[in-house]
Amino acid sequence: MVYEELEEVRKKCLSCEKCGLCKTRTNTVFSGGVPNDKLMLIGEAPGFYEDKQGEPFVGKAGQLLDKILGCVGLSRKEHIYICNTIKCRPPENRDPLPEEKAACREYLDKQIEILKPRIILLCGRVAVNSMMETTQGITKLRGKWFEGPNFSKMMPIFHPSYLLRNDSREKGSPKWLMWQDIKEIKRVYDQLCK
Ligand code: URA
Repeated sequence: MVYEELEEVRKKCLSCEKCGLCKTRTNTVFSGGVPNDKLMLIGEAPGFYEDKQGEPFVGKAGQLLDKILGCVGLSRKEHIYICNTIKCRPPENRDPLPEEKAACREYLDKQIEILKPRIILLCGRVAVNSMMETTQGITKLRGKWFEGPNFSKMMPIFHPSYLLRNDSREKGSPKWLMWQDIKEIKRVYDQLCK
């Protein structure tokens, strides 16, 4: 049932013309990973490679994301559903415009409503701003649990492209903080599996 419902939304999304991005996209990027009721990650928007392949997080940032998940035994083939705040690439990877986010919102809302994930990871500033009413930056919010839709647990995390720009692994560095966060995420994920 979940698959059929998602498929229906995906089909609608693939031919969406609700905002100007439909004119510049190669592919709509609806989702990646596996539909499941435990773990969902919401990113920002498709980039160059995602637009070409129709798959989220397949560029350098995506490869790092896979590596981070892999460190705690999670993979997009088995454990996580991945989507973005908006489903089409903004030209030159600029930030999505408010009207683009508003036009695309129904698809994200449907994905959440259908899957009802227990854990939602908000990957980067754009996802945080879409899902939370806050003026605080990601550095303050990351690593903390918030209540999300359907009483889910929602955690902001750094975007992997930010980690790619910050190479240090020293205590307190973005990569070190991400390591703390992914361990905490896995701890809560494991509780759900008991
Ligand atoms: N960055 C994102 O936020 N999403 C993608 O799909 C790729 C890069």
